[in-house]
Amino acid sequence: MSNPDSQPGKGTQPRIPLNDGTTMPQLGLGVWRTPADETADIVRYAADAGYLAVDTAAIYKNEEGVGDGLADRPGIYVTTKLWNDDQGYDATMRAFETSLRKLRREVLDLYLIHWPRAAEGRFVETWKAMVALQKDGRVRSIGVSNFRPEDLDRVIAATGVVPAVNQIELHPRFQQRALRAFHEKHGIRTESWSPLGQGQVLEDPVIAEIGRKYGKTPAQVVIRWHLDSGLIVIPKSVTPKRIVENISVFDFALDAEDMRRIAGLDRADGRIGPDPATF
Ligand SMILES: NC(=O)c1ccc[n+]([C@@H]2O[C@H](COP(=O)([O-])OP(=O)(O)OC[C@H]3O[C@@H](n4cnc5c(N)ncnc54)[C@H](OP(=O)(O)O)[C@@H]3O)[C@@H](O)[C@H]2O)c1
Repeated sequence: MSNPDSQPGKGTQPRIPLNDGTTMPQLGLGVWRTPADETADIVRYAADAGYLAVDTAAIYKNEEGVGDGLADRPGIYVTTKLWNDDQGYDATMRAFETSLRKLRREVLDLYLIHWPRAAEGRFVETWKAMVALQKDGRVRSIGVSNFRPEDLDRVIAATGVVPAVNQIELHPRFQQRALRAFHEKHGIRTESWSPLGQGQVLEDPVIAEIGRKYGKTPAQVVIRWHLDSGLIVIPKSVTPKRIVENISVFDFALDAEDMRRIAGLDRADGRIGPDPATF
């Protein structure tokens, strides 16, 4: 893949301060379902297009591609996630080393527990391992994904260490207002997964209409909504044109009326992915 001509994201992107004193880029590239043998080219292309962050996970089976693609780009912020089978203190330590080796990093930027799996009862031990890894300087920031308020309460009570980030399903049709308010109260940053609703949200006529007003595509409007809502956002694409499109969002902002209209798209049944209570 050749480099894009324009570099729309370069130098203009906001970073979000985390509760551990670090910052992370507000926009990154997600690589779930990005084929392993294409990942290196895609993340390198994205970095050249101006992306400052990549979100992977052990279960995506493409950490090696991320590591290869970003080997000479140590400044790109990398997040990976501990898979469910590796929960528990010792297993977490082993899984972390494996991920770090595949990612070809000395220090990881952000490590997340992928799902609470509350019924299995291992996430508190897992969190204690994450806290130790951070204390040892192996990872800069630690957080969770798909945690509910009761799960967050338990890890905070057990360790006194508040996750920096909770990465959750969040898009205009599933806005997670209650959980976001909980995060706000505790100093946890909200990161939106499936921020485009896996593409489904892009067909909404309200989004298209707002896009026409700014000369922007539906994806750009939705990504801008995440940014203007203070969320960390990681849209996924394997398509070069879309990778550039999705980062070309730093030259406009939604007004209060647009934000109000998008707020109205929230639906009680808007969840697309699994429910953390049962997954
Ligand atoms: N923590 C978790 O449990 C969890 C769960 C799910 C996802 N995630 C993370 O969140 C990231 C994003 O979520 P996601 O991959 O589920 O879905 P998404 O980013 O909401 O949507 C991706 C889909 O939208 C398409 N798309 C992207 N840009 C587009 C554009 N400009 N115009 C039209 N279509 C566009 C992509 O197609 P093409 O790729 O074909 O271009 C793909 O089919 C993941 O990659 C992963 O890193 C985390």
